Amino acid sequence: MSGRLKTIGEVLNEAALMLRDYCEKKKEDYKKIALMIVSQILDMDKTEVILNKGLPVGQGKYEKIVNAVSKYLHDNPLQYCTNKAFFMGLEFYVDENVLIPRFDTEVLVEVAIEIFKGKKNLYFLDIGTGSGCIAVALCKFLDCRVLAVDISERALDVARKNAKLNGVENKISFIRSNLFEDIPKNLEFDAILSNPPYISKNEIFELDQRVLKEPHIALFSKEDGLWFFKEIANKAKLYLKDDGYIIFEVGFSQAEEVKRILEQSGYKNIKSRKDLNNIERCIFAING
Ligand SMILES: C[S@@+](CC[C@H](N)C(=O)[O-])C[C@H]1O[C@@H](n2cnc3c(N)ncnc32)[C@H](O)[C@@H]1O
Repeated sequence: MSGRLKTIGEVLNEAALMLRDYCEKKKEDYKKIALMIVSQILDMDKTEVILNKGLPVGQGKYEKIVNAVSKYLHDNPLQYCTNKAFFMGLEFYVDENVLIPRFDTEVLVEVAIEIFKGKKNLYFLDIGTGSGCIAVALCKFLDCRVLAVDISERALDVARKNAKLNGVENKISFIRSNLFEDIPKNLEFDAILSNPPYISKNEIFELDQRVLKEPHIALFSKEDGLWFFKEIANKAKLYLKDDGYIIFEVGFSQAEEVKRILEQSGYKNIKSRKDLNNIERCIFAING
């Protein structure tokens, strides 16, 4: 390394220039993307970046920014470029081994908070924990412990990291398991929550290039995307308290099918909650 360090303003301009042609082709705002990358890597909010353009950027951070921009130019989601995502106001580490937490999934956590607010010593099962966003958020907002399960050991490593990052590592246990296969039979939960893979394989051609960079094991499901709902609804009964809840996130247009699956599996009081786009996004019911 030689010479003076670049300033935040200079780095921001450099990132924007690198991004310009690519973003213009994709009809994206290159200045906005540059600002997001720079602010996330410098751990500053966007206003701080703008107000501190004269400050120097360390060589390590500069290299991280250039790397992140290059990854973005190779069609990677922004969150994989900066290794950061936000969920329920909390920060998460993310990489190619996990699904990027979506705002839509916050509906599922909000439903759980509504149902269980004020109750003590709850015990939840999060199936397909991925980044751990649901498990971590539950521990932050409710008095609970969570058993977080995923079939992917690499996803579990990320989830463990996120539990630590958010200071809830003592409240979450992690098990690698194919659905319920390795979950001890004697456990009993107040709720089983899952945002399972639910995209039908036929939809693969409609998906954005960047979504396809996410683990396919986190995205796709057989039987028109409904397979996991059937499997989980069926087996969850063995692990739920009598008044326990099953809480699912469902895909666009899957709500009616999932309600039917829950009804056929014997659940009671089946309800749904819409997301900000007015789509029925969360279906929940009592074991009954
Ligand atoms: C749609 S992602 C959800 C991730 C995270 N819970 C979220 O809401 O962002 C589904 C997760 O299920 C996991 N998964 C896929 N098949 C599984 C199986 N048979 N058993 C357990 N987990 C599975 C994937 O590895 C992935 O992490």
